[in-house]
Amino acid sequence: MILASEESVRDALIDSASKTAFDSGFFRIGQRSLPQAAVRSASAELRRLLHESSSERPHLARSILSRKVGMRLPSRGIGQTLVFEYFRRQICRGRSRSIGDLAHAYVQQSIIPDDVQHRPRSHYRHLVPLRRALEKELIGTEMSTPCRDYLDIALSVTETLEEAAEVFFRLVLSTVGFTGSAMEWLLMDQSDRGVARFPGVPVRDYVRESLRLRTPACRLSRDVTKGMTVGGVRVEQGDELLLNLFAANRDPKAFHLPDDFRPSRFGEGAGKRDLTFGLGTRSCPAQRAALDCLQDFLIPLTADFEVSWRPRRGSKMIVGTLAIPPKGTFVIRRTAGHGV
Ligand code: HEM
Repeated sequence: MILASEESVRDALIDSASKTAFDSGFFRIGQRSLPQAAVRSASAELRRLLHESSSERPHLARSILSRKVGMRLPSRGIGQTLVFEYFRRQICRGRSRSIGDLAHAYVQQSIIPDDVQHRPRSHYRHLVPLRRALEKELIGTEMSTPCRDYLDIALSVTETLEEAAEVFFRLVLSTVGFTGSAMEWLLMDQSDRGVARFPGVPVRDYVRESLRLRTPACRLSRDVTKGMTVGGVRVEQGDELLLNLFAANRDPKAFHLPDDFRPSRFGEGAGKRDLTFGLGTRSCPAQRAALDCLQDFLIPLTADFEVSWRPRRGSKMIVGTLAIPPKGTFVIRRTAGHGV
């Protein structure tokens, strides 16, 4: 059954959550979710790691942008590249160069062609060899507590190096997949509208409105474990619920003029109804870091740099697990007065 209203999705994620299976999308080995306790501890470590390192990152966004000035930056990939560079230290801090290179190769050779561009010829063919190569690199790796990077988190909740390599790559995917798409939508919004058109509105609210309208994690699923009524409809054990976050985030009962880009709505309480990061026990553990990341790129783009976006004619967004922007090209330039 598909749930698309804000109220019914909220019900499925919170009040009825105990009647659906606990099944983490990222902390998993193959089809099998890690146990709830392991997911909880890994999510808590992830939150702590990202929070403790948050002061390192704002200046990084600026220097990453300055390296891209004047280049033609194609959508469906540039967002993931920027986000990987931004979180690189949290992903693999102080590891051997080859581990960093493998994480980078995974983003460029699998996430972008397979999960973002859906290139049929690629179809996950690099994923398994990359995982195997990482597994070999992990032999003899020491784990430190508290975790200093994603690799430590992966090692802390798995029993073999093969499993650790899999969980590590899924953590990289969870970081750059949603956030990379969100980044491209935000760059498009900045090119088309711009923060300056909303004086007095906090940059954070602008970011949140861009996320609400595009909802990069546009659908979630839940397996029903106990019969119940949700969204006014009876469902039984074994049924699957598809939660359409994209539609729920544009529900006119929850958001006034939902299709309008109106960041001031977050100052009026829209945050309580926004479902961008999910809700409840399985909601995104990294939502604060994701918002910081987008904001850290947007702030220099409102002052020292500007971005322009040219869509490719006829190209449309792709809606799958991710809401992926149309094809097109971004160019970043320094604004007048910031020639250096
Ligand atoms: C704009 C960016 C992001 C969006 C929209 C987003 C959205 C979401 C959503 C909706 C979920 C819930 C999935 C469910 O309930 O089935 C989720 C879970 C998760 N997210 Fe994010 N996310 C973002 C960025 C990140 C980042 C930067 C990380 C960093 C590692 C991350 C890590 C995770 C993990 C590990 C989970 C699974 C938690 C669990 O299974 O308990 N996300 N995310």
